[in-house]
Amino acid sequence: MNDFSHAFFGYFIAFIALGGIAWCLWLLFAQRRWLGIRPSGAPVDDTGHVWDEDLTELNNPVPRWWTWMYLLLCLFALGYLVLMPGLGMFQGVLGYTTADEVRRHQAQLAEQVKPVYARYAGMTAPEIAADPAARQIGERLFLNTCAQCHGSDARGARSFPNLTDGDWMYGGAPETIEQTITQGRHGIMPPWKGSIEPAAASDAAHYVRSLSNLAADPLKVFRGQRTYETYCVACHGVDGKGNQALGAPNLTDGTWLYGSSEATIVQTILEGRDNRMPAHDAVLTPEQIKILTAWVWGLSNPTPAANANAPH
Ligand code: HEC
Ligand code: HEC
Repeated sequence: MNDFSHAFFGYFIAFIALGGIAWCLWLLFAQRRWLGIRPSGAPVDDTGHVWDEDLTELNNPVPRWWTWMYLLLCLFALGYLVLMPGLGMFQGVLGYTTADEVRRHQAQLAEQVKPVYARYAGMTAPEIAADPAARQIGERLFLNTCAQCHGSDARGARSFPNLTDGDWMYGGAPETIEQTITQGRHGIMPPWKGSIEPAAASDAAHYVRSLSNLAADPLKVFRGQRTYETYCVACHGVDGKGNQALGAPNLTDGTWLYGSSEATIVQTILEGRDNRMPAHDAVLTPEQIKILTAWVWGLSNPTPAANANAPH
C-alpha cells in the first residue's frame, strides 16, 4: 500500500532512485582513465604538488578491489529495488510492507498477553476492580488511551466528564461503562437560537441555576420555569434530574460539564452542544475493555484494597 495522492510522486521517487545509481555508474565510467592498467614498476603519476620539501601528492588510480566494491554496491542497490518497495509505487517482488510487519507483531503480542487476560475472563467487574494486578493494567490502559481527554487523574475537564465522582451522564453500571468505551457516545443538546429569545434563555438559565441552589433572580426563575417546561423537560426531566438514556445531564446535582455561570448556560441553550466520545472497539481488545471498565467503575466504587492505589 502506498499513500501517494498522485502517481506523479511515484515516478518522481523512482526517477531519483534510479537516477542516483545511474549517476554513480557514470561517475565511475567518467573516471575510467584512472583504471588504466599501469605496468608495475612504471613511474607513478603525480599531481605536481609538493609539501614540506619532499611530500609529493601522487595520482594513483583507485585500486581494483575498490572498483569492484563500488560496482557491487550499485548492483546491490538495483537488486534491493527489485525485491523491496522503494521504486515509487512498485511494491517489490517480495511484497514486503512495514504495515504487515506491524500487524504481525501486534498479533504476536496479543497471543503473548492472552494468558495474562485469561485470568480475568470469568471475573465480574467488582472482582477485577479489587485485583491489584488488574488495577495496574487498567491504569496503564487508561493513561495510554483515555487520559488525553479525561485527564491522567480521570477527573475530566470542561466538556470531558469526570469519571471519579459517581455522577454519570449515561450510567455507571459496568455494562453501561463497557458500552460507552466500546461504542463511544455522542451527546447532542439541540440549539434553541430562533425558538428562544436571548432574554428568555437568560430566564431559563436562572431557573437551571436555582435547581442546584445557585444564586438566581426569583422573577427570572419564575419566568424561566415556563420556558424550561416548554423546551427542556423532554430531555432533562420535570425535576431536572436528566435522562441517562439520552445522556442529558442531571441539572440539579452541582456537577457541571461546561460550567454553571449564567453566560455558559445561556450559550448551551442558544448554541446547543455537540460532544463526542470516540468508540474504542478498534483500538482496544474486548479483554482490555473489560479490565478498563472495571478500573473506571472502581474509581467511584472504591473497595478498601483499591483505595490504597487510587489515582491522586
Ligand atoms: C477524544 C476524547 C476522549 C477519549 C480519548 C476518551 N473519551 Fe470518554 N468521553 C469523552 C467525551 C467528550 C465524553 C462525553 C460524551 C458526551 O457528552 O456525550 C466521554 C464520556 C465518557 C464516559 C461516560 C461518562 C458518563 O458520565 O456517563 C465514560 C465512562 C468514558 N468517557 C470513559 C472513557 C474511557 C475508559 C476512555 C479510554 C478508553 C475514554 N473515555 C476515552 C471523550 C473522550
Ligand atoms: C433533545 C434533548 C435535550 C433538550 C430538549 C435539552 N437538552 Fe440540555 N442537554 C442535552 C444533552 C444530551 C446535554 C449534554 C451535552 C453533552 O453531552 O455535552 C445537555 C446539556 C445541557 C446543559 C449543560 C450541563 C452541564 O453540566 O454543563 C445545560 C445547562 C442544559 N443542557 C440545559 C438545557 C435547557 C435549559 C434546555 C431547554 C431550553 C435543554 N437543555 C434542552 C439534551 C437536551
